[in-house]
Amino acid sequence: MSNQTVQPHQQASSLWSSRLAFILAAAGSAVGLGNIWKFPYITGENGGGAFVIVYLICIAVIGVPVLIAETMIGRRGGQSPVGTMRSLTESEGVSRGWRAIGWNGVIASFLVLSFYSVIGGWSLVYIGKAAAGAFVGADADAIGAQFGGLLGNPWELLAWHGVFMAIVIFIVAKGIRSGLERAVNLLMPLLFVLLIAMVIYAMNTDSFGRAVSFMFSPDFSKLTTQGVLTALGHAAFTLSIGIGVIMAYGSYLPKRVNIAGTAMTIAVIDTSVALLAGLAIFPLVFSNGLEPGAGPGLIFVTLPLAFGKMGGGIVFGAIFFTLLLVAAVTSAISMLEPVVEWLEEHKGVSRVKGALFGGLAIWFIGLGTVLSFNVWSDVHPLGFIGYFEGKTVFDLLDFLVSNLMMPLGGLAIALFAGWAMKREGLSDDIGLRGGIYTAFMAVLRYLTPAGIVVVFLYNFF
Ligand code: PHE
Repeated sequence: MSNQTVQPHQQASSLWSSRLAFILAAAGSAVGLGNIWKFPYITGENGGGAFVIVYLICIAVIGVPVLIAETMIGRRGGQSPVGTMRSLTESEGVSRGWRAIGWNGVIASFLVLSFYSVIGGWSLVYIGKAAAGAFVGADADAIGAQFGGLLGNPWELLAWHGVFMAIVIFIVAKGIRSGLERAVNLLMPLLFVLLIAMVIYAMNTDSFGRAVSFMFSPDFSKLTTQGVLTALGHAAFTLSIGIGVIMAYGSYLPKRVNIAGTAMTIAVIDTSVALLAGLAIFPLVFSNGLEPGAGPGLIFVTLPLAFGKMGGGIVFGAIFFTLLLVAAVTSAISMLEPVVEWLEEHKGVSRVKGALFGGLAIWFIGLGTVLSFNVWSDVHPLGFIGYFEGKTVFDLLDFLVSNLMMPLGGLAIALFAGWAMKREGLSDDIGLRGGIYTAFMAVLRYLTPAGIVVVFLYNFF
C-alpha cells in the first residue's frame, strides 16, 4: 500500500520483532479464560454438540474473516483503534460514522476486562489452593463447598481481582514489547502441553466416550436461538475480535508479514485449545456425576477433583492454575492496551499513568461482577424483560460485551473492510491472491455480515 506517512506504531522501534512474536502475542490474547473457563461452561449450559458445531461454523465464517480484516485495518492505521479509524476514514474518504468501531472497541475492552479480571482472580486463588493440597482426597461436595466459600466472600474476590489487575497494569505499563513478548514466548506452549496431559488423564476415566459424544454429536433440539447468539458471541470473544484489541496489536505488525496465514494459525491454535479444554473437563464432569450446565464455576469444581485424586496432583494442579493465570493475563493485557493507547493519544498521559488510571477505573467497575456472585446474586437488573430473566450484573455485562458489542463490532469491521475501503492494495495487504482472494472477499462482504445479521434478527425480532 502506498502510504507516504509512517503511522506512529509503524516506526521500526515499536514493531513486533518478528512474525512469530505477533502470532504469540495475538494467540496470547486469543487463548485465555475464554477457551478454558468459558467455552466448557457455555457448551455445558447450551446442551453440547449442536452448540459446538454452530460455534465452529461461526469461527470459520465470521471469526477468521473479521480477524484478517481487523488486523489489516490495524496495520494500515498504525495507531490506537480510535486514531486508526479516524485516519482511515480520512484517507479512504468515507463517512466519519465508521469511527464508532474505534469507540466501541475502547469502551468494550474497558468493560470486558472488568469482569475478566474477577475470574482471573479466581485462578490466583486456585493456584494457592492446589499448592496447599486443599484438593487432596476431597470429594465433589467438599470441592463445591470450597468454591462456594470463595464466591460467598466479596472482600476476598475484590482483593484477588485487585492483585490480578495490578499484574496487568504492571505489564502494560512496561510497554508492548518488553512486557508482552517475553511473558508469552515460553508459557503458551507449556499450557498446550499441560492441556494435552489433562486430556490423556481424562481418557482414562470411564466417561471419555460420553464426553466426546456430548461435545460432538449434535442434538439441535437442545439449542435455543439465544444459544446460537452465545455461540456467535463466543466466536468473537475467543478470537478477541470486534473490539479493537486485534486492531491495536495489528498496528505494531511489520508490513511484510502475511496477515491471512497468521490469522489462520491463530484461529487453529485458539480452537484447538478450547476443544482440548472441553475434552479434559467433560469426562471429569460425567465420571463424577456433576452437572455440565453448572455455570461459571464449572472448571473450578471439576478439575480440582482430578487433581485431588491423581498422583502428583499438588504439583500438577498448581502448575495448571498457574498456566491458566498466564493465559488470562496475556488476554487481559490485550484488553487494557486499547484503553491505554487511547489515553496516551487523546489525553496526552504517559503509558504508565494511562495503565494505572485506566486499570484502577476498571478495577472499580469490576465491583459489579464481584457482587454478582454473592450480595447481588439475586439482583436481576433487567429481569423484567423476559429475555434477560435471571441474569445478574455479571451475566448482563458478559452479554453486552460478548453477545452485542463484539459481534456488532465484527459486523462493522467486515462492512468497512469489505465495502467502504478502496480495493487497491488490499489483496497484497491481506496476503491472498487470485481466486482465493476473490473468494475471501465474497465471504467478507456477504457471508460474514449476513451470518451476524441473521443471528441478531432471530434473537431480537
Ligand atoms: N480471547 C480472550 C479469551 O478467550 C478474551 C478476550 C476478549 C481478549 C476480548 C481480548 C479481547 O479469553
